[in-house]
Amino acid sequence: MGGVSLMPPIKKNVRSDSKKGTLVSDPFSYLEKDHKKIGSLLNKLTAKALKKEKRGELFLELQDELTLHAEMEEKIMYPILERLSRTHTIVQEAFEEHHVVKHLLNELTLMPFDTEEWMAKLTVLKENIEHHVEEEESDMFKKARTALSASEKEALAVDMENFLMEWVGV
Ligand SMILES: [Fe+2]
Ligand SMILES: [Fe+2]
Repeated sequence: MGGVSLMPPIKKNVRSDSKKGTLVSDPFSYLEKDHKKIGSLLNKLTAKALKKEKRGELFLELQDELTLHAEMEEKIMYPILERLSRTHTIVQEAFEEHHVVKHLLNELTLMPFDTEEWMAKLTVLKENIEHHVEEEESDMFKKARTALSASEKEALAVDMENFLMEWVGV
């Protein structure tokens, strides 16, 4: 974790993902929805119109989302995909990309929000995340979707759901 402290869990991170009321129906679609949410927070944060005093609040929201997302991938999904030959190397790279993102996030929490330097670092964070998300969606998830059997995907969905429940302390 490189000294990055985990934010306390917040309930608003958890949402229903299917009509049946389960949180995770398809593991990859769930994470892709998360990516959209993270992307939209990053767009809001880097928008020129955003007032500097709003940065802190939005940044904390981003940090919460990223922490939960990365933990769920690292603890639940990546270990399974790392064992498959088709996704082994991509997963190892993804762990390293997470490491860089966490480092940047940590640095951002230690700097004043209202400076040009903060915004420059945030822009680099955004670029790193966009690159990582692109690799997950167009390479890792794509390969994993065909490499895993239906029952393996189902088991993964259950594990992700349990992880979420534990995260929010249900
Ligand atoms: Fe990731
Ligand atoms: Fe992801």
